[in-house]
Parts: sequence; C-alpha cells; structure tokens
Amino acid sequence: MSAPMDSNLFQQLGLKHPLIVAPMAGGPSSVELVAAASAAGALGAMGGAYLNAAAIEAFAAQVRQRTDRPFSINLFISHSIPEVATDRFERAAAATVRYRQELELPSPQLSPPYEEDFDAQFEAVLRIKPACFSFVFGLLPVGYVREAKKAGIPLIGTATTLGEARALEESGVDAIVLQGFEAGGHRGIFDARAADPEIGMRDLLAQCVGTVRLPLIAAGGIMTSGDIRAALQAGAQAVQMGTAFLACAEAGTSAPYRKKLLETPERRTRTTRAFSGRFARGIENRFMNEMDGKPDAILPFPAQNKFTRDIRGASMAKGSPDFLSLWSGTGKGELWQNGAAELIGRLFAE
Ligand SMILES: Cc1cc2nc3c(=O)[nH]c(=O)nc-3n(C[C@H](O)[C@H](O)[C@H](O)COP(=O)(O)O)c2cc1C
Repeated sequence: MSAPMDSNLFQQLGLKHPLIVAPMAGGPSSVELVAAASAAGALGAMGGAYLNAAAIEAFAAQVRQRTDRPFSINLFISHSIPEVATDRFERAAAATVRYRQELELPSPQLSPPYEEDFDAQFEAVLRIKPACFSFVFGLLPVGYVREAKKAGIPLIGTATTLGEARALEESGVDAIVLQGFEAGGHRGIFDARAADPEIGMRDLLAQCVGTVRLPLIAAGGIMTSGDIRAALQAGAQAVQMGTAFLACAEAGTSAPYRKKLLETPERRTRTTRAFSGRFARGIENRFMNEMDGKPDAILPFPAQNKFTRDIRGASMAKGSPDFLSLWSGTGKGELWQNGAAELIGRLFAE
C-alpha cells in the first residue's frame, strides 16, 4: 500500500492553478495549446496516443521551445488483440462500403499492428522526462512503473469506477483522474469489451474520497469556475477539462469539428463504439447513428480505429462532420474561442 501524499502533487509541480487541460489525442492538443496551458499556470498535456516515438519527441521539443513550464504526456495503455478474422473484416467492410463510395475511397485494407508501438512511445517519454506521465485504458505494467519512478516521472492513471481507482492506487501511481460518464472523448474503462459503468463524475468522486488515499482529479462536464469550485469542495485536488478548451484559438480542432461544436450550445452527445471500437462520447452524427445499429460490424479496439481512419480523414478533407469523431462532453454553453490563457485566467479569476 502506498503512503498517502501529504503534500499536494500540483504544488510540487509548481502549478498556479489546479487544472490539467486534458490531453486530447488526434489533433486538438496542439503544441500551441499545450504550451499556452502550461505557460498560463495550468498543466498542459500532450495527447500522444496516435504519435510514434519520433513524433512525440518532436512535439515535446516544440513545447519546450515555447515554455519552460511543466507539461505532461499521455498515452493509451496497449491491449494487444488477436488479428481480426476475415469474416469480421468482411462484415465491417460491407457495413461501410456506402461511405467509402460516397467519399471516393478505395476498398479498405486492414492488417496489424493496429496501434503505435507502446514500448517505443514509453521509451520516448522516459527520454523526454516530462513533469508527469498520464495514461488511460488500464494499469501501467509494473516494469514501466518502476522505470518511470527511477526517472522521477510522477504517474497519473485514469479510473471510471472505484474498483479501477483502487487498482491504480495499488499499482503505485501518484494521482488518479476520475473520469465521469459526462466526459468527452474515450471512456477510460480498463476492459474495452465491458459494459460502460456510466458513473457520473460527482458520484465517482464521492465514492473515492476518503477511500482512495491519492490526489484525485475530477474530469467530465466541468465547464465553469463554479463547476471547478464544486469539484474541489467535493474533495478533488484538481480538475481535468477537455471540451471547454476545444474551440480555443490554439486548439488543433479541425474546421468541420470546430464548426459543429460552435453550431449549437446544446451539443447533443452520446457514447458510441462506432469510431474506434471503444466507448467514446461525441456529438451525434450520421456515422454514429447508422453504425450503432450494426454492432456486429464494429471491430474491437484498436482495430476499428485503424479501420475507420480513411473515412474520418476523407470526411475532414471534404469539410464534412458526417463521418468525423466529434468528441465532446455533456457540458453545455458557448465555447471559448480566444486564447487558452485568457480562459484559464477567467476560470480562476476569484
Ligand atoms: C477531443 C478529445 C480527445 C481526448 N483524448 C484523450 C486522450 O488522448 N487521452 C486521455 O486520457 N483523455 C482524452 N480525452 C478525455 C479527457 O482526458 C477528459 O476525460 C475529458 O475531456 C473530460 O471531460 P470534458 O470533455 O467534459 O471536460 C479526450 C477528450 C476529448 C474531448
């Protein structure tokens, strides 16, 4: 059992504000957004999951050119899956043939590996030595925990249940992101095939405070200074916010995605496995609505993520939101479109 942290991890990191601007892999977490968040006194976070080791190192070097403030790197824990069987692939191809025709794409190909090489990514993290390393989708294997500790890199795991939080605590992490069902993007559920526990952030926080003896970081649906205050008062030591920063000037959010986010402040979202094979929350669109009716045609994560990449890429190139993953949390309201530093200043104005 690890000892309780008597000092505040976020004070140790020298942060001005108890805020992590969420790692958002796939574009939104640009070099500019990470650097701006860190320079403004929050913790900027690189979403490195879809980058190879060289790209992760290049990204970190660019952040360091812009700021000497601490930032974190985030990766997806790898769960290797068996090669996708031919009949499953054919079902997935048949269910999407119409979209590829519409987008003028060739017939799909799919072969392993389905994701970046985690070992190489992790070795890049050790070389970069960021202020923090955070991860989702499970536990960091014990050998990696040892390596990170040896390098002096604090670890932040992600939990969607009390059970996952306890397992992370046992594994030796330094802090835990409690990701509520409201959160935009991928659900951090350890078992990709399990049903979603659907626990809201406040309930999850209430279950973990006093039971899990590590700093807890609340995530999911936090949009305003009032939301931040409520999470801190309920026992969180910090918050992690993604959606609120998606339309910031520095965010790498694509034009059709940004347009959709700004179109209506209500943003109708739900979770789907259609894009990657794992549950993730995003704004409803045609791909989600049509594919969710065909669960047998959705491949397991991360194969489905690789399988749909051409469709998402072509949709973006066409400027259409119909086939894009439009990750967004349940938080409502107009999104901030100016600089991230100004948003952070406003969130912590009092
Ligand atoms: C576009 C987008 C991409 C995301 N990518 C990641 C990621 O790469 N790694 C991760 O740990 N969390 C990721 N998340 C989830 C966030 O860490 C966080 O849990 C979530 O944004 C909090 O909910 P909110 O969006 O309502 O603020 C992503 C969220 C969004 C909106």
